[in-house]
Amino acid sequence: MTLPSRVKLVDVGPRDGLQNEKQAVPATVKIELVHRLQAAGLKEIEVTSFVSPKWVPQMADNAEVMAGIQRQAGVRYSVLTPNMQGYQAAVHSKPDEIVVFAAASEAFSQKNINCSIEESIQRFAPVVEAARAAGIYVRGAMSCVVGCPYEGEVAPLQVGRLAQLMKSIGVQHVGVADTIGVGTPLKVKAAMEATLQHYDVNDVSGHFHDTYGQALSNTLASLELGVWQFDTSVAGLGGCPYAKGATGNVATEDVVYMLHGMGIDTGIDLDKLVDAGAFISDFLQRKSGSRVATAILNKRLG
Ligand code: HMG
Ligand code: MG
Repeated sequence: MTLPSRVKLVDVGPRDGLQNEKQAVPATVKIELVHRLQAAGLKEIEVTSFVSPKWVPQMADNAEVMAGIQRQAGVRYSVLTPNMQGYQAAVHSKPDEIVVFAAASEAFSQKNINCSIEESIQRFAPVVEAARAAGIYVRGAMSCVVGCPYEGEVAPLQVGRLAQLMKSIGVQHVGVADTIGVGTPLKVKAAMEATLQHYDVNDVSGHFHDTYGQALSNTLASLELGVWQFDTSVAGLGGCPYAKGATGNVATEDVVYMLHGMGIDTGIDLDKLVDAGAFISDFLQRKSGSRVATAILNKRLG
């Protein structure tokens, strides 16, 4: 077993993290968070989503946030686009990457984007085509790959089927997402393996919510398959408004600590990352969801 020597992390905190906040987070705070993440060495940041403000009011300031970011050379900024309307709004903000998002379970597809899996693919097809023609990279998120809040267990077969559909419309990279954080290593491996039947290992990433505390183990299980790209969220922010009870993504700080401890390079400065997490946790008046950040902050106090 050879583990990757380098891992790329996409911090999805500004989007996945803040989409689920009850309190209003001003655009200035979101922009500052993005600046702090790039200062910490993040090279990929999922900034916002161009979804319906009726469905997710927290992301209504999408264009303002994108316009307010001082872009750093070498950093890529991505946004979610559920349909052509979202893509057309997003394109003015010049994202480096767009994300179409589908689910491996029918019920979650209906609850989250108000259509069936098949309909979602039909909806994404022109978005993918337009983005690729404009030179914008297209990632696909596949939700509920091991479990669904409405349907329960999700079989690897369903994940493989979705990966195949994503491939058929030209999605370049897919994220294997445990939306509600119920996965355990062998189940996550099975979902990954089903995806790897359709996508090269270099075009697959893991996106693990940490609801049941399994996300680091699931990350390690994926590394063992050669997967080297992961979505993580500073301070463990996150959740999906249409996946009640699910907590945040695995904390970026926790993943960085684990990887550095294994001699795997991320290009991220853990101390600066902890500062970025402290900034947003202070704003939200909440303790960080990262065990590593908590330990480092305690140690700093002496
Ligand atoms: P719909 O209501 O079926 O849409 O929603 P519609 O096409 O019938 O349009 C209805 C209204 O929405 C119209 O406005 C449209 O203009 C407007 P009205 O005439 O009533 O005033 N509309 C839009 N407005 C802004 N931007 C748009 C847009 N599209 C339509 N793009 C829709 C369908 C997909 C829009 C809706 O269900 C939606 O926005 N869903 C997004 C839900 C969401 O953002 N969930 C969280 C992100 S996914 C996630 O977190 C999982 C992930 O992290 C991976 C994982 O963990 O699994 C990625
Ligand atoms: Mg998510």
